[in-house]
Amino acid sequence: MEPNAVAYDPFDPAVLADPYPSYRELRERAPVYETAAGFYAVARHEDVLAVLRNPAGYSSSAMNFSATRPEGSAEARGRLLIAADPPVHTRLRGLINRAFTSRRVAELEPRIRHLVAGMLDGALPRGEWDLVSDLAGPLPTTVIAEMLGIDPERREDFKRWSDDVVAIAGGMPDEAEMARLQRSLPELDGYLDEVIAERRRAPRSDLVSALIEASEDGAVLSPEDVRSLGVLLLIAGNETTTNLVGNAVLALDAHPDAAEAVRKNPALVANLVEEALRWDSPVQAVFRQTTREVELAGTKLPEGALVLGLLGSANRDERRFPDPDRFDVRRDATGHVAFGFGVHFCLGAPLARLEAKVVLESLFARTRSFRVAGAPERIHSFFLRGLRGLPVRSEVV
Ligand code: HEM
Repeated sequence: MEPNAVAYDPFDPAVLADPYPSYRELRERAPVYETAAGFYAVARHEDVLAVLRNPAGYSSSAMNFSATRPEGSAEARGRLLIAADPPVHTRLRGLINRAFTSRRVAELEPRIRHLVAGMLDGALPRGEWDLVSDLAGPLPTTVIAEMLGIDPERREDFKRWSDDVVAIAGGMPDEAEMARLQRSLPELDGYLDEVIAERRRAPRSDLVSALIEASEDGAVLSPEDVRSLGVLLLIAGNETTTNLVGNAVLALDAHPDAAEAVRKNPALVANLVEEALRWDSPVQAVFRQTTREVELAGTKLPEGALVLGLLGSANRDERRFPDPDRFDVRRDATGHVAFGFGVHFCLGAPLARLEAKVVLESLFARTRSFRVAGAPERIHSFFLRGLRGLPVRSEVV
């Protein structure tokens, strides 16, 4: 492979707007590509899997972005699960799994339906509204706040803190965002500490109590760990779910036939969610660092190399998905890696799927049509893909 056969710059505005043509080129001509910034981008499905199924060779320590975060901040510490390797990761994940079960998530469905109904009650009569700020943004924040057991009276504060934390999730915060974060983090930390202390005294049926209980059993999670996990859940779960809903609606708008098919047959919504995850993945890339010299698809990577697993490219790999650029709500999208793969597979996948399904089902059920009514505003990030704003116009049934 000629090293310079392809010029791939993930920060190029044209690539940010539409990374898929560059991914295709990478898969064809440079499946393991050393970028100008010195990291190795991995583009094929098979090779991304090889990276993710080998935590001994490819450490998740590279998921710790604390170097670019306020020193010792909760946000930096909040990476402890996502940036840990086995065996530490295995132990933490086991504890958290017990608090974050599929049953707990499935039980949330009626509440999620109620929340979505309320948000649509506010938005639909206006005819023109913003999918992100009126629905796809507030929904995951509210759901995770309720799961954690945040006091309803503190919801507004919690929303502000989580917005500030989530604003930097794209990895390219500007100065104003950084300043807001510096203010909000200590407040959020302090508040979570209060909640943890209260639940320790008087447990409830919320996630914080479940995490405390899990930690007391195994004596592994400190109060700081519980607090950091709260922050991680905010970061990992909010913007990503917002992006899934936004990307799905944008895809439907660009493919009226697909929208019509789902409207006629709402049973297709679950499949639509999977296809949206595959076709325009909210998390485009994950980071790893090699622990020793490794060979990947014939390329030698030195020890300590930063590796970028391009999930968004793996999900468009023609070797894995026939006609991969076609958005097809009937296709079997199984095997997509939008939630990652292996030991770090997304903890919140059942919740994200449920929230997206309820939103899309409700939108179809309560409208005759919904169309994009203005230019989408993209978030500024190369590893998260999604929208800050999406004006829509809807007609109620
Ligand atoms: C569509 C929405 C979502 C997408 C696309 C997504 C994607 C991902 C991906 C790709 C990973 C793996 C990272 C890696 O391998 O380094 C991950 C991990 C994780 N996600 Fe999600 N996520 C979503 C929603 C959520 C939600 C709703 C929550 C929780 C409320 C959540 C919590 C987590 C956590 C805690 C991890 C770390 C797991 C571990 O390290 O063992 N995610 N997610």
